[in-house]
Amino acid sequence: MTYLSISTALLLLGSLLSAPSNAYDLVRRQKAANATYKDSSASVDVRVADLLSRMTIQEKTAQLIQGDISNWINVTTNVFNSSGLEWNFKARAGQFYVGYAMPPEWISAGIKRAQDYLVHNTTLGIPAITQTEGIHGVLYGNATIFNSPIAHACSWDPELIYEMAVATAKESQAMGINQLFAPVMDLARELRFGRVEETYGEDHFLSGEMGYQYVKGVQSLNVSATVKHFAGFSAPEQGLNTGPVHGGERELRTTWLPAFKRAIIDADAWAIMGAYHSYDGIPSVADDHLQETILRKEWGYKYFVTSDAGATDRLCCAFKLCRCKTANTPVDKEAITLMTLPNGNDVEMGGGSYNYEMIPQLVEEGKIDISVVDRAVSRQLRAKFKMGLFENPYLGLPANATKSVVHTKEHVQLARKIDAESIVLLENKNSTLPLPKSAKVAVIGPMANVSNFGDYVVYRSQYNPTNVTPLLGIQSATNATVTYAKGCESWSNDQSGFPDAVAAAKAADFAVVVVGTWSRDQNELWQGLNATTGEHVDVASLNLVGAMGPLVQAIIETGKPTIVVYSSGKPITEPWISENAAALVQQFYPGEQGGNGLADVLFGNVNPSGKLSVSFPYDVGTLPTYYDYLNSGRSTDPGAILPNGTLQFGHQYVLNTPQPLYEFGYGLSYANFTYSNVTLSKTEVSASDTITATVSVTNSSPVDGKEVVQVYVQDVYASIVVPNIELKGFKKVEIKAGETVDVSVELEVGKWGLWNKKMDELQNLSQFRTEITQTKRVILIKALKTGSDELLGFIYFKYNKDGDCVGGLRIANFNATLPISSLGTGASSKASDPGQTGQHGEGMKLSTLVFRRNNYNYRIESGCFKWNFIFKKWEFHCGLRRMGDKTLDKLRLKEQGKP
Ligand SMILES: *[C@@H]1O[C@H](CO)[C@@H](O)[C@H](O)[C@H]1NC(C)=O
Ligand SMILES: *[C@@H]1O[C@H](CO)[C@@H](O)[C@H](O)[C@H]1NC(C)=O
Ligand SMILES: *[C@@H]1O[C@H](CO)[C@@H](O)[C@H](O)[C@H]1NC(C)=O
Ligand SMILES: *[C@@H]1O[C@H](CO)[C@@H](O)[C@H](O)[C@H]1NC(C)=O
Ligand SMILES: *[C@@H]1O[C@H](CO)[C@@H](O)[C@H](O)[C@H]1NC(C)=O
Ligand SMILES: *[C@@H]1O[C@H](CO)[C@@H](O)[C@H](O)[C@H]1NC(C)=O
Ligand SMILES: *[C@@H]1O[C@H](CO)[C@@H](O)[C@H](O)[C@H]1NC(C)=O
Ligand SMILES: *[C@@H]1O[C@H](CO)[C@@H](O)[C@H](O)[C@H]1NC(C)=O
Repeated sequence: MTYLSISTALLLLGSLLSAPSNAYDLVRRQKAANATYKDSSASVDVRVADLLSRMTIQEKTAQLIQGDISNWINVTTNVFNSSGLEWNFKARAGQFYVGYAMPPEWISAGIKRAQDYLVHNTTLGIPAITQTEGIHGVLYGNATIFNSPIAHACSWDPELIYEMAVATAKESQAMGINQLFAPVMDLARELRFGRVEETYGEDHFLSGEMGYQYVKGVQSLNVSATVKHFAGFSAPEQGLNTGPVHGGERELRTTWLPAFKRAIIDADAWAIMGAYHSYDGIPSVADDHLQETILRKEWGYKYFVTSDAGATDRLCCAFKLCRCKTANTPVDKEAITLMTLPNGNDVEMGGGSYNYEMIPQLVEEGKIDISVVDRAVSRQLRAKFKMGLFENPYLGLPANATKSVVHTKEHVQLARKIDAESIVLLENKNSTLPLPKSAKVAVIGPMANVSNFGDYVVYRSQYNPTNVTPLLGIQSATNATVTYAKGCESWSNDQSGFPDAVAAAKAADFAVVVVGTWSRDQNELWQGLNATTGEHVDVASLNLVGAMGPLVQAIIETGKPTIVVYSSGKPITEPWISENAAALVQQFYPGEQGGNGLADVLFGNVNPSGKLSVSFPYDVGTLPTYYDYLNSGRSTDPGAILPNGTLQFGHQYVLNTPQPLYEFGYGLSYANFTYSNVTLSKTEVSASDTITATVSVTNSSPVDGKEVVQVYVQDVYASIVVPNIELKGFKKVEIKAGETVDVSVELEVGKWGLWNKKMDELQNLSQFRTEITQTKRVILIKALKTGSDELLGFIYFKYNKDGDCVGGLRIANFNATLPISSLGTGASSKASDPGQTGQHGEGMKLSTLVFRRNNYNYRIESGCFKWNFIFKKWEFHCGLRRMGDKTLDKLRLKEQGKP
């Protein structure tokens, strides 16, 4: 989001609209004195309707436009401007932005002044929503800065994110801030994109769990979340920020929307922010299918959607759907308003042309129905009532009281904990880590003595004196000698610092080299200073920039055990470092305690338990490498350039591999964990079931540690092409040295559905037979779908008293949709078999299998048999007995034994 100076352009307009002080409507104000909307015991809907009925079109319009604290406070001097205040709330009364780099007490006083004015000096006394950024701590000076969301997700610990959200909300409240522009539910599926660091990684399930807890956490203190960016924004063409996104409805629903739905609907978020992109040719800000049909009609969402900063103007100026501003003509504000408000964008953020000022005129001219305006205002007012704003318009504390709430010892401690829990150990050869506390350590690299924050932090916060850099963290974790050499600048090819760094490494027992990517604070980022990640900073390569790679090489070549730390906002592709470094540690953009968190892990005070939230490719040219690729993807016949320079030719790829270097969910520990006794509470399941996967995890090492049990589901035969596997549950557990813990992960079968050819979600009809296995370090549940709306029939098998299959009986009910709920193992009944004509007796079992019209390749798994066959005409066999009367093309039968 960009906040350009907007006030100057509006001075003219402002003076036209501004009115004398206390110019409220005395009559309406008196009438409202005891109005229903002020009655906290009335229902929210009744209060909304009552208030709406009292509002003029001007007042309604003002609710739908974002204001800005800079309209009444000079953000560099704190000089108050009372006409600016009046003007702002005449024209832009619904919500206002406060995220400026100014002393927090100015923000607090500016908000207080505004809420007092609204409550006491306006006709209806509607308090405002007060907004800033908050993806990793609330954005104002000296609030606690947590690590970036991409790191949060590596903790695989949603409860920790809840704690962080509560801490963030307390620090927001203290200033009177009641809304945060977070969480980000976009997914890191295009790694060239600059905003990877703002996401919770590549997977919608993990992201959804993190986002859910964030929303629950902040809203538990009546600070509204704003789930963003709705939706499908983060895989732009060429990885370029705000670029078009290609995809269809199925991909939207399968990949992009589930995390949003979890944070928006399940967690009951009170606001949503739209996005900048177009999806399949439709700008999201004007997409009624997304913002109305799906969000409102299907999901039943009741609160409001705001545009992102400047996003509405993009309809004319980026997407070319209307006339942009020229030297002689203004932007086509009417066109923009008509394309957005009726299509589900309720509130217009600043940073653009304030097109929604057109609303009264457009209503007057009959171009927008007042019901559309009322709908938008109601959605926003509903949020305000729900937040308790009318009862508590100002949550802030007096300036002398904020110290006990903001940047407290507890919050700083929490930041350190999340940092340590988020670190991922990628390589640890010869058990180089943890470092002995007596070791002499050389700390090297351009990221070694900086606070390498991700974007969305306040101006110059990287210089806060309380920040802990890696060097400071390492220094305070050991009493042995710690030396430091920068080696090079991140942004330069200059190697003149190498000799000092090499000398430092040679004089030490271990070298810790911190290299990576870098972002900028919210001001520097938009001033255009150099950076390699962050909003509007996209890359064509994921390699280390400048002299950083050669620096790592020079240090490794000293022969000293070299621990490389990637301090970055996205994966780095230097496979040779993985090969050659003694250890490799991934620290996604840290918070203010990042150095302590890192030292905790390096010295073994914390056993690393982070797992990657995003897959690491070998090279940018192999993207995408997310784990949940669709079936038929990722053919692999790899080639390589060997370390000695030999070219080894493959085909996928010629000199590389499409497989990831490190997979989603990967991460090492100082402990060893082994899995056994993998079981599932139920194997015949349907959509209404919650089932439990259980595994015994043994820590066979002498150190305590935490393990993340990850459960993936594979839809074995689907009617459409689905992801090869999907994460559906996980749990992080602490296991003491030598102990075994039974870990249970709950799974909601209703979330295993797919979007079929008719774009119906099958979850209500799905029934699965499941098998559980453990592959490598994950639990895989194979789900064989046994029911769908494309069910064509089913087969009965007869068993003798020894349980041998002795033959099938019949195929029932082709082309009928049957009541799946009555299916299951065991004797069939008349009720589930309306068309039965064959035998039906004791010892007969219904086998769970399904045929789907649209597939060509079938496999039937029953208690008796596994059959692979291909057919063009319908015919079915049980055993070798022919059952139907149509011809099979091919039948391959494979006996699997008794049920
Ligand atoms: C509002 O209610 C209070 C207390 O119930 C009463 O004293 C006051 O007169 C009422 N005001 C109006 C304008 O009705
Ligand atoms: C804020 O004050 C400074 C210093 O007096 C001045 O230069 C600047 O123009 C003011 N900003 C606005 C928006 O009025
Ligand atoms: C707002 O109302 C209060 C009390 O009614 C009054 O004292 C104050 O002057 C008003 N302020 C403004 C800016 O109109
Ligand atoms: C943050 O705190 C430091 C003192 O620790 C102070 O110098 C600085 O001005 C503060 N920053 C802001 C933006 O308030
Ligand atoms: C804060 O200031 C107010 C008034 O200036 C005073 O009444 C209150 O006791 C102070 N609180 C603290 C915690 O110092
Ligand atoms: C460093 O030495 C001090 C003083 O002897 C001691 O209190 C502290 O625990 C030591 N720290 C470490 C990390 O060994
Ligand atoms: C990069 O930015 C830094 C300031 O952060 C500046 O000192 C340096 O000169 C810049 N280098 C280049 C090559 O742009
Ligand atoms: C691991 O230890 C072996 C034997 O001491 C040594 O040859 C090898 O270089 C070590 N590997 C690394 C990466 O330090």
